[in-house]
Amino acid sequence: MTPGPVPPGAEVRTRVDPTLAAEGYVLSCGPAGIDLAGGSEAGVFYGRQTLRQLGPDVPGVHIEDAPRFTWRGVMLDVARHFMPVPDVLRFVDLIAFHKLNVLHLHLTDDQGWRIEVPGWPRLTTVGAWRSSTMLGSRVHDLHDGEPHGGFYTTADLRQIVEYAARRHVTVVPEVDMPGHMQAAVAAYPALGNGFDGPVRTGWGISSHVLNLSEATFDFCRRVLDHVCDIFPSEFIGIGGDECPTVEWPGGRELQADFTARMASHLATRGRRVYGWDEILAGGAPDGAVIAAWRGVEPADVAIRAGHQVVCCPDVKLYLDYRQSDDPGEPTPVGTLLTLEDVYTYEPPSSPLVLGAQANIWTEHMESRSRVEYMAFPRLCALAEVVWGPAERDFGDFTARLPAHLARLGALGVNYRPLSGPRPADARPSAPGNPRTLADRLAELHEMTADLR
Ligand code: ACM
Repeated sequence: MTPGPVPPGAEVRTRVDPTLAAEGYVLSCGPAGIDLAGGSEAGVFYGRQTLRQLGPDVPGVHIEDAPRFTWRGVMLDVARHFMPVPDVLRFVDLIAFHKLNVLHLHLTDDQGWRIEVPGWPRLTTVGAWRSSTMLGSRVHDLHDGEPHGGFYTTADLRQIVEYAARRHVTVVPEVDMPGHMQAAVAAYPALGNGFDGPVRTGWGISSHVLNLSEATFDFCRRVLDHVCDIFPSEFIGIGGDECPTVEWPGGRELQADFTARMASHLATRGRRVYGWDEILAGGAPDGAVIAAWRGVEPADVAIRAGHQVVCCPDVKLYLDYRQSDDPGEPTPVGTLLTLEDVYTYEPPSSPLVLGAQANIWTEHMESRSRVEYMAFPRLCALAEVVWGPAERDFGDFTARLPAHLARLGALGVNYRPLSGPRPADARPSAPGNPRTLADRLAELHEMTADLR
């Protein structure tokens, strides 16, 4: 095609060319118009996102592009703070714009149960609500005294799945079990081990976990059946992280048995378990995909055990961790996790690595605006990690970023300015508890001892 800009109003000629990589595309723009070929409809979609980025005055360009990883994900915790459906849809739009293709939706936790399940009304009449919310890090023991909650109906979730599918985003649901279950136990104490209290209002990990009776296994299977009815994803998240065993008559081996039962049930529906790396202890079920989060070591453990893995090490990809040491950062928790830390993260090189995902835990994100502040532009950096080549240049990225931030600004995204937080981004009512990397690495080493 002859070089030169595209005339205003030129048509976009699209086609699917199965000889291209499935999610790849070739985009040619010039005086004769715009030709966009995709290896599939997804490839055409990604070419269109590139066109959107080029803006209204499309220059003459020829782009051949395809992603490196098939799992380009982000986890959104809608349990700690409920996010209304329109805000979830907007978030889907934003991640699709960055060519991310997995939304891992963390639907349940100690502090709230967010998915309506037929036959179990109290999960949402009771489990979806808490009387108060902790403000900031738990070391301060501050509370707002305000009720909080909400849940998604089946129709809501179908809408999210369908909206995401049209943008080539797979929603991977997660119902965290057998720990992180205090909200469900508050709704149905028979699921627990004698706990008869409310949905948890503070952060941290509840020791009030599921019991291991046949009736409770059956409850879990019914919940997963409902999840499978709504979500077509091959992978179904069952969590498995941070499950205290103090209420059980045995130890960690009981969790391995629990996980195996859930995996075989999901297999009857043609689905595979997606679980946090704790499920490696005692041997994860065949076919399970591991979300490796406790530092960078568990990904290697999963690979050695022959499991496919999605890398999400907390010290690299937890977007609730603070973005700088500026005292104006909202609720600074975790280790320092800068834009450069995310951009320079590289998953281990193995065919078992499906990709990576950033995790957005929302204890300290009470609004869509706060989520956007923590997510962007670090999610832009992740998008390049999982789409682009292993060799990346942070200087080049930061040179290109201001033009992209202008696009996000035009979309009304409350991204974090490269110069630091704006005065109104601070959240003095919710103080944090910053950690050093050395302390966190020592803690992770201890936490993962059972994997070594
Ligand atoms: C996790 O951060 N508990 C997976």
